Amino acid sequence: MSSNRTFTMIKPDAIEKGYTGEILNKIVASGFRIISMKMTQMSKRDAEMFYAVHQERPFFSELVSFMTRGPIVAAILEKENAVDDFRTLIGATNPDEAADGTLRKQFATSMGENALHGSDSNENAEIEGAFHFSVREMF
Ligand code: RTP
Ligand code: MG
Repeated sequence: MSSNRTFTMIKPDAIEKGYTGEILNKIVASGFRIISMKMTQMSKRDAEMFYAVHQERPFFSELVSFMTRGPIVAAILEKENAVDDFRTLIGATNPDEAADGTLRKQFATSMGENALHGSDSNENAEIEGAFHFSVREMF
């Protein structure tokens, strides 16, 4: 996957609150093209693998149960400078620290339940996209 792609998930909290359409509108209006997209629910094992980098952190089990409690929308997005620009669009992990106009400022509830995931590097964007999508699902 080239460096102009990133990977996102709309997390269970945002879907439960009915924000899916509004979030997708804002993502597209911010210049991201949707390359792949699906609604799916991660198993415990999926979430443990996806977030393996955090397995020693105190919030890991809370994170796994949150991310598996309902469906997510997974998507691969394309835009020049996609990884950094998408992190800017979603804002800080903690919504109290997220800048005005960011998606987490608008849609997140707390540090744990923060509405969206965004890849933190080109390498992880590729790994995370491939975790959820086959090459035949990338358009
Ligand atoms: P993400 O990976 O979901 O895009 O979020 P991020 O880079 O902004 O934050 P990261 O440090 O990678 O943490 C991953 C997710 O774990 C949950 N978290 N909870 N309770 C806590 O202190 C805490 N810290 C992190 C959040 O859902 C965070 O997005
Ligand atoms: Mg992260």
